[in-house]
Amino acid sequence: MKRIRCFIVLLLASILFAGEVCAKEKIVRVLAIGNSFSEDAVCQNLYELATAEGQKCVIANMYIGGCSLERHLNNARGNLKAYRYQKIGLNGLRVQADSMMLSKALKDESWDYISLQQVSGLSGIYDSYTPFLPELIRYIKSFISPKTKLIWHQTWAYAQNSTHKDFERYGCNQMKMYGSIMDASKKVMKEYGFSLIIPSGTAVQNARTTFIGDNMNRDGYHLNLIYGRYTAACAWFETLFGKSVVGNTYAPKNMHPALVKATQEAAHQAVLHPFEVTNLKALTPGEKLYTDSSLPLDIRVEDLLGRMTIEEKVLQLNQYTLGTNNIENNKGVEVKNTPAEIGSLIYFGTEPDLRNRMQHHAMENSRLGIPILFGYDAIHGFRTIFPIPLAQACSWNPGLVEQGCRITAQETKLSGIDWTFSPMIDVSRDPRWGRVAEGYGEDPYTNGVFGQAAVRGYQGKRLDDSLSIAACLKHYVGYGASEAGRDYVYTEISRQTLWDTYLPPYEMSLRSGAVSLMSSFNNISGIPSSANHYTLTEVLRNKWGFRGLMVSDWGAVMQLINQKMARDLKEAGKLAINAGVDMDMMSHSYDKYLKELVEEKTVEPAVLDESVRRLLRLKFQLGLFENPYTPQTDASTRFRRPASVKAAEEMSAQSMVLLKNDGTLPLRAVKRLAVIGPMANNAHDLLGCWWGHGEDKDIHKLLDGITGEFKASEVRYAKGCDFSGEDETGFQEALQSAKWADVVVMCLGEKGSWSGENNSHADITLPQIQQHLMQKIHATGKKVILVLANGRPLVLGPAVEQSNAILEMWQPGTDGASAVAGILSGRINPSGKLAMTFPYSQGQIPIYYNRRSSARPNQGFYKDMVSEPLYPFGHGLSYTRYSYGELSASKTVLHKGGKVSVSVPVSNDGDMDGMETVFLYVSCPYSRITRPVKELKRFDKRMIRKGETVRFEFVLDVNKDLGFVDEQGNQFVDAGEVNICIGDKTLKLHIE
Ligand code: BGC
Repeated sequence: MKRIRCFIVLLLASILFAGEVCAKEKIVRVLAIGNSFSEDAVCQNLYELATAEGQKCVIANMYIGGCSLERHLNNARGNLKAYRYQKIGLNGLRVQADSMMLSKALKDESWDYISLQQVSGLSGIYDSYTPFLPELIRYIKSFISPKTKLIWHQTWAYAQNSTHKDFERYGCNQMKMYGSIMDASKKVMKEYGFSLIIPSGTAVQNARTTFIGDNMNRDGYHLNLIYGRYTAACAWFETLFGKSVVGNTYAPKNMHPALVKATQEAAHQAVLHPFEVTNLKALTPGEKLYTDSSLPLDIRVEDLLGRMTIEEKVLQLNQYTLGTNNIENNKGVEVKNTPAEIGSLIYFGTEPDLRNRMQHHAMENSRLGIPILFGYDAIHGFRTIFPIPLAQACSWNPGLVEQGCRITAQETKLSGIDWTFSPMIDVSRDPRWGRVAEGYGEDPYTNGVFGQAAVRGYQGKRLDDSLSIAACLKHYVGYGASEAGRDYVYTEISRQTLWDTYLPPYEMSLRSGAVSLMSSFNNISGIPSSANHYTLTEVLRNKWGFRGLMVSDWGAVMQLINQKMARDLKEAGKLAINAGVDMDMMSHSYDKYLKELVEEKTVEPAVLDESVRRLLRLKFQLGLFENPYTPQTDASTRFRRPASVKAAEEMSAQSMVLLKNDGTLPLRAVKRLAVIGPMANNAHDLLGCWWGHGEDKDIHKLLDGITGEFKASEVRYAKGCDFSGEDETGFQEALQSAKWADVVVMCLGEKGSWSGENNSHADITLPQIQQHLMQKIHATGKKVILVLANGRPLVLGPAVEQSNAILEMWQPGTDGASAVAGILSGRINPSGKLAMTFPYSQGQIPIYYNRRSSARPNQGFYKDMVSEPLYPFGHGLSYTRYSYGELSASKTVLHKGGKVSVSVPVSNDGDMDGMETVFLYVSCPYSRITRPVKELKRFDKRMIRKGETVRFEFVLDVNKDLGFVDEQGNQFVDAGEVNICIGDKTLKLHIE
């Protein structure tokens, strides 16, 4: 039916056209045989350009996506109805036939011109033409009049950042690809007698020399829908009609006049010089295009970049601080002393006012008025402080994490900050390293999923939304592998481990649209991260195509000297920027030496430009040029809105992990409750290591939470001891309270400042004094519930045996007390599970679930202690009981490239509603590269009402989820067995 309809339309159209053939004016009829590249060039704009000059034409296109000359010939030989045929008739009427044969199109009109092209990827490889072109030309000629001219459509080189596989044929080098296309085109013209060349490729290349820059493509190889296509059409117009396109009155709707001018000139010059690039840099638009928000972002960037001096460019690539303290006198001085051209500031204030004053300075006192990007470390909140990220991961609830980051974005943005240095997605397997608190634990996939959630939360749907901020993935890369748990030190990471363990969270989070990253302090197997061309450029830019900003960590450029790589600060800057670090945070290397380095040519001007381009792009994306200032609002409307506090409470509740319970919890009908320990009546240490602008006065203390919850009980508090030290004078009071009570809640752990940056601990056991207190309280014979506040897994020692129950509350932030009290009372059923293993002893570190298998699985254990962890990854108890049914899969024989769905019924057999997290692991019994004993591939947390059964379903991608990476990052999947493990159940699948 469809074919008949198309045929009728074609018939009608040809009758219509036939009448007009008799008309006096010369009608140009052209048929482009090609693929999407010719479609890009002839199906839009060309007809209108011709009409604007009173030219009559019939334009047709034979389309197959990615069609090569070889395929065209095969279609001809087989008379295949393989094409979509589009024709624009004399009156602009468009018709389409979906299953067209070449021969039919050739006979459809008495064509003046028929064009051919090679598929883009091969278009610079002349050897790919010769086997097919002669026969194809003979075939075409057998259907057409001798008057018809065969013309050659020269295609264009890809964008320099294109990730198209075929770009590798040209060493991913645009000029190399362009040169190859020109050479091939010249040869074709000579060898096969093509009478004309349509220089689309040269027109595009010419346009790239203007302020448009390398923004002619929409996906790295197809032309931009508006000005890219227009440029190619202009080249066609001028070639076919022999009239200069410059000044043609037709342009696509909304195309800026400056762009029209530049692209027309680019096409015109291409027709004059079809095989060489004409540099049109001088064609700068008079008006400032970068201030015009209706223009495409990349054009604005190029326009601005083209106007900047080297000094202005260099200053943009530096980040200083603003407002190191909040003393009124200091503020003005700092604003005045900071150059108005500075790229970014770390803003320590909480009020828009200081930011706005500084921003006015930048907008008004700099030549080009480039707004400053204000960054800040809102790691787990700004004023409403959420649990530390390690705790957040234990919630296994990415939705909550996204919501938390959205709230942080709102509090942050309204206070004058555009950019947070979060999330930290460093896989870390050593709890001695203080920064485990800031990340999402030991598993790559978990870090990836929560990284994605955080990016979604911070960046929202649009970066220029009034409540969105830019995220920064850190610390790229491998920082979590810090040797022996010490901060800033060497990391030994093989390429294989880099690819299978440390890079995946970054790759995943970038897919969520993260716009910036931070280069880390560590040295990766001899090449420091902040001078590591492989990770910063080859992987991030060339392989993943990331176009965003790379900022160094604080002083990381300067530290290349300490790491014994750079001779001095100047060389450090050279190494960093050449490796791919765009912005220097507080090393003062770029501001001092970058200009010199560029002038000496040890840093290419193109490298400098590219870094500036990345930063400017981010500023435009954030809408800073349109909205440079933060509206002045009252702090009370900005901070700790009721919904924000509620979200923080919920996150606290879901992130706490019940590690042990002999049935003592939940507490029912307790008459006398003793609350003891240094954390019990403490506010500040609940905040954890990176509390932003959290204030002690906002914090809900444990004692208050417990007193409020257990209204019917009598509650007594005794501090007992401090976190550390030797002062046991408080023991007496604590013991008396314990003896008096029915149940003792011991609130122990770490001070907030013990974890985080520069807080490596060789000894992660519960401090002696707290252990001693615990032992004494235990000796009273009373039931003891241990509530732990800590930023890392601890070695708990005898405290485990001395407790009836252990609740890991982590460092819950401002609003965790009610969650602790609710879990103790049973109002809340605990649902957190560990995202990081608790070792039994420090000697076991590093200890993590996804290790590789041993050569002798039954030997090699420690002789002096157990080899298993105290509490493994994924451990966490509930007040109800869940049972897992049999696993089922949509198929058991899988094929590469396919998908499989795996499901499991989970029943709540207890008498309390609860939220259960189901983990799906993959385990491969053999593989050409050995794999971890099991790898987490999916998790899902859902409410299961008591007595109910819920089916959890997971869809897996055979290549991605059941495959693996090699040491170059190539994903592969081998045929063979693979086990899916959920709970205590395993399902064998087979990949063919
Ligand atoms: C930390 C980063 C942080 C930066 C800026 C550095 O010392 O390693 O995580 O974002 O400072 O405050």
